[in-house]
Amino acid sequence: MLEGKTVHLRVLEKDDLPLFAEWINRPEFFGEYNPLRQISKTEIEKDFDKSTLEQTGFIIEKKDGSKIGYICHFILVHPAGKLLEIGYSLVPSERGKGYCTEAVRIMVDYLFLSRGMMRIQACTDTRNLASQKVLEKAGFKKEGTMRKYLFSRGEARDACLYSILREEWKEPRVLTRTT
Ligand SMILES: CC(C)(COP(=O)(O)OP(=O)(O)OC[C@H]1O[C@@H](n2cnc3c(N)ncnc32)[C@H](O)[C@@H]1OP(=O)(O)O)[C@@H](O)C(=O)NCCC(=O)NCCS
Repeated sequence: MLEGKTVHLRVLEKDDLPLFAEWINRPEFFGEYNPLRQISKTEIEKDFDKSTLEQTGFIIEKKDGSKIGYICHFILVHPAGKLLEIGYSLVPSERGKGYCTEAVRIMVDYLFLSRGMMRIQACTDTRNLASQKVLEKAGFKKEGTMRKYLFSRGEARDACLYSILREEWKEPRVLTRTT
């Protein structure tokens, strides 16, 4: 368990899959800036069984144990090497309270403390201002715009690429080196 002040991150377990399936099949969970998708429980279970250290999902829980969202890290394979990327989403009723910013800070600490990667990246629709704010508050910098990078809701959309480098992170903000 990765402990923050207002939320903690707990690795997604098989028992969480019914709730997770309910979340991800509700269009409002991923919001208007992410591709609309419907996935069966069987597919979700298959994906879960394929999870590796390179691709892990976490449930974001409040201190009272209520489950309010999901955050994950995964690897994109690029000819020049591997890119470590994160993604996240919160149930609508818990947005705007700072929870996702803390979850991203915890994830960044965890990844830089546990792996030798030099950068972590995230990508978001150019119109998704809440997501960009979260990334900036967590120390990410905007690298640029990827034109027509995402296909969502019947149209190609531009996306911003954000990253944080190990030298910009410097020290953990939520976790500690002895966590
Ligand atoms: C993006 C998302 C995860 C943010 O979670 P959150 O817990 O609400 O984020 P936080 O409360 O930590 O921070 C949000 C910030 O964005 C700001 N914000 C929210 N909506 C905004 C808008 N339309 N324009 C500008 N800023 C906005 C908030 O004011 C807050 O900034 P502040 O702390 O300076 O006031 C959440 O909105 C969500 O789940 N959206 C749907 C899924 C999604 O888009 N995921 C990201 C995919 S890249």
